[in-house]
Amino acid sequence: MEFSVKSGSPEKQRTACLVVGVYESRRLSPAARSLDKAAGGYLKNVLKRGDMDGRCGQTLLLHDVPGTACQRLLLVGCGQERELDTTKYRNAVAAAAQRLNETGASDAVSYLADLHVKGRDTHWKLRQIVEATEAALYVFDQLKSEKDKVRRPLRKLALGVTDKKDAANAQAAITEGQAIAAGVRLARELGNLPGNICTPTYLGDQARELAKGRRKVKATVLDRKDMEKLGMGALLAVARGTDEPPKLITLEYQGGKKGDKPVVLVGKGVTFDTGGISLKPGAAMDEMKFDMCGAASVLGTLAAVIRMELPLNVIGVIPATDNMPSGKAIKPGDIVTSLSGQTIEILNTDAEGRLILCDALTYAERFEPDAVIDIATLTGACVIALGSHAAGLLSNQPSLAHDLLQAGEAASDRAWQLPLWDDYQGQLDSNFADMANIGGREAGTITAACFLSRFTKKYHWAHLDIAGVAWKQGKEKGATGRPVPLLTQYLLDRVADK
Ligand code: BES
Ligand code: MN
Ligand code: ZN
Repeated sequence: MEFSVKSGSPEKQRTACLVVGVYESRRLSPAARSLDKAAGGYLKNVLKRGDMDGRCGQTLLLHDVPGTACQRLLLVGCGQERELDTTKYRNAVAAAAQRLNETGASDAVSYLADLHVKGRDTHWKLRQIVEATEAALYVFDQLKSEKDKVRRPLRKLALGVTDKKDAANAQAAITEGQAIAAGVRLARELGNLPGNICTPTYLGDQARELAKGRRKVKATVLDRKDMEKLGMGALLAVARGTDEPPKLITLEYQGGKKGDKPVVLVGKGVTFDTGGISLKPGAAMDEMKFDMCGAASVLGTLAAVIRMELPLNVIGVIPATDNMPSGKAIKPGDIVTSLSGQTIEILNTDAEGRLILCDALTYAERFEPDAVIDIATLTGACVIALGSHAAGLLSNQPSLAHDLLQAGEAASDRAWQLPLWDDYQGQLDSNFADMANIGGREAGTITAACFLSRFTKKYHWAHLDIAGVAWKQGKEKGATGRPVPLLTQYLLDRVADK
C-alpha cells in the first residue's frame, strides 16, 4: 500500500473515495461536518433515515454526494465520541480498510486522523492508520492454490490532515508506521508458515536475506558442530531429539557508533514444540508451529530498524530447533551442563524454551550489551494469567521494565509486569543438579523467568512472555506479529532520548 499526506478540506479532495468518521448517535466528526455543510445537510438527512447510527465498526458507502469532489464517501462508525479509545479506533480503521478494499476504489483519502482519541496525538493516529490498515488487509495465502482475488484492491491511501502544523510531521509518522507494519508482516508471515517449511535453516536464511547487500547488517548462522565447540549443552539437549539441524542465528545491525553498546534481542525459535518425551496432548498441537514467534518478532523488529536506519546498534540472537521425541531425545531426569557452566536437571522436556534461551542469553554476554530483552512463547501459565491482551514482562532492572511498559502503551502493544522476587527461586531447587528446569504448578510464568534470571546476572535484562499475544486461536487462527510494535517503539524511544 502507498501512503501519503493530503492537506486541505475534505470536500475539495478529488478522489475515488473519501473516508470520514461518524459518532454514535449520528454525530458528525469535524471532517464529516465540513462535508455536510458543503453538501447542504445531505449527510445529516441520510443518517436521519436510519441507515447508520455510528456504532463502532459500522460502515456506509455513499455515491456522488453533492457539493464534494469525491466519487464515493465512506462513513465509518466510531461509537460514542467520549469513549473512543485505542482499541475502538483501531477497529474503526480496520473496518474502513476492509470496506474500502471491497468497494472498487483503488485510491482514497482518509480523514480518520481528525477523530479525538483519548490521550493520543495526531502522530499516533496517523501511525495507527498505517499499521491497522496494513494489518487488516493482510492475508496468508501463499500456500493456497486458489487465492481470493480482490477485484480492484485499495492501492493508495492518502491521510488527510487539516492542521498545517500536523501536516509537517505527518510524513514521519507514516514512515514509522510503514516500517512497523512491514516488521509485523514479516513476523506474521514467519509465524504462519508450518513447521515443515519454517525450520531453523529457513529462519537462518531469513536472517541472511535481511543482511544481504547491506553494509551495516551482518548475519551469522552457527550449526550443531559450532554449538558443541562453544559448549551449549542446554540448547543441544533440546536439539538431540530432532533430525532437523538446529541453528544459532545472529543478526547484527550497526546503525550507531562503533563503541555504542548494543541492545540485544533474543528470540525463542522452537520451530515445532511437540513437548518431546514429555509429549503434549494432541488437541491444538498444530499451534506449536507458532513456538518460534519470539524469533519472528526479533527478525521483524530488526527489519523495521533497518528500514528506518535508526542510529543504534541492535543485535538479534535466535536459538532455533524443533523439540521432538525420539530414541535420542532427552529424558526426564537427564542432567545437562549449560554454556554458563551451571548444571540443569531436566524434569520436563516440554520446558524446552528456557533451555535454549539460557545458552543464548549467556552467549549474549559477548556483545557487552546495554540491555538484553528476550522474547518467548514460554509458558501456558502466562496465557492463563494475562489472556491475549498483554505480554508478561519480568526484569532485573526497574528502569528497563518501565521503558518497555511505556513503549507498549505508546505502541498499543501492551505488556504487564509480574514480580521476579527471590521468594520464587526455591521452586527450582534440584536434588541432583544446580537447578531443575521446572518450578511446579504455582506461578509458572514467574518461575520460568526465575530460571532465565540465573543466566542474566551480568547485564540489564527483561523477559517478554508472549505465549498469549503472539497468535490468535479459533476462526482467525494466525500470527499477530506482536510484540514488534512494542520493541520497535522501545528502540525509537531510545533514539529520541539520546
Ligand atoms: N511453548 C510452550 C508454551 C505454550 C504452551 C505457549 C501453550 C502457548 C500455549 C512451552 O514450551 C511449554 O510447553 N511450556 C510448558 C512449561 C511447563 C512444562 C513447566 C507449559 O507452559 O505447559
Ligand atoms: Mn514446550
Ligand atoms: Zn515451547
